[in-house]
Amino acid sequence: MILLDSVTKRYPGDAKPALDNVSLHIEPNEFVFLVGKSGAGKSTLIKMLTKEEVPDSGKIIIGGIDLDYVKKRHIPGYRRRLGVVFQDFKLLPRRTVYENVAFALEIIGMSGKDIRKTVPKVLELVDLSAQAKKFPSQLSGGQRQRVSIARSVARQPKILIADEPTGSLDKLTTQEIIDLLRKINDFGTTILVTTHNENIVNNLQKRVVTLKDGRIISDQKNNGIYKLDATPVPEKPERIIQAPGHALKETKEAPKVAKPAAPKITTEKITTEKITAQKIATPKMAASMSPTIKRAVRTTPRRKIAKSNVI
Ligand SMILES: Nc1ncnc2c1ncn2[C@@H]1O[C@H](COP(=O)(O)OP(=O)(O)OP(=O)(O)O)[C@@H](O)[C@H]1O
Ligand SMILES: [Mg+2]
Repeated sequence: MILLDSVTKRYPGDAKPALDNVSLHIEPNEFVFLVGKSGAGKSTLIKMLTKEEVPDSGKIIIGGIDLDYVKKRHIPGYRRRLGVVFQDFKLLPRRTVYENVAFALEIIGMSGKDIRKTVPKVLELVDLSAQAKKFPSQLSGGQRQRVSIARSVARQPKILIADEPTGSLDKLTTQEIIDLLRKINDFGTTILVTTHNENIVNNLQKRVVTLKDGRIISDQKNNGIYKLDATPVPEKPERIIQAPGHALKETKEAPKVAKPAAPKITTEKITTEKITAQKIATPKMAASMSPTIKRAVRTTPRRKIAKSNVI
């Protein structure tokens, strides 16, 4: 669903890259926390996915779309297919709660009739039916964030990306928002959320990916806990093999995973409404890819991806 392969990003003027050779694969329906100290590269990674920034090298494939081939003029359309939630909510101040959600649907071309059906259901999901006629300035921080989430989920995205959605909220409200994200995840949406909130991460026991200085230093697939300084796994762990009558010391070679060659991808034209899939890999390239990447690449369809199942 989300695949980053050896992604590196260096901002102009910065000595160190913000992301340094990051590879990450998130499967459909996963709930993933992205953690790390301030400056670790979390927001940069999110911006790679929303195409606010582009990597210097590496490959990003989301819902079967190779982001290299999403042209500038198609970026707004691409982003509308993702659910994106920000710390500062980004609501329209002069529109009511109802109108904020309705507007998100208007711009994707939903009919008035469908909008009138969808908005009340989504407001009910985020428990804001009673606030439908209020303006953002009349809401609490948690309520504003719920409007922002409602706006994203109204379009039924397959992926929801949230960069510190609870960063400006108190403890109780944070819990509410996380509970809501869990509910959305239970309905089948893949969730990637960055946070500094240790308690939330530890209580949820989901997958936790830790970034440090632009590198992934730990990826706890289950029951992850919040740790910022996990030491990377040593490359050549030593182990003792005890054979009958012999004590034999063996140095286990770390599996040599050949670095995937920079994929040469041919693609058909991508338009906002007709996002076409790509020929991802030649057999030679596939041979050098890790099994995870191979699996993800193989699932990328070569036919046109229908509008509804892109993300
Ligand atoms: N627009 C930019 N121009 C130059 N450098 C940037 C820019 N955005 C981020 N950086 C640098 O890239 C690195 C990663 O920043 P990023 O915002 O991704 O960190 P973060 O993990 O989201 O931190 P925080 O937890 O504080 O939000 C930092 O060293 C930061 O100074
Ligand atoms: Mg950040």
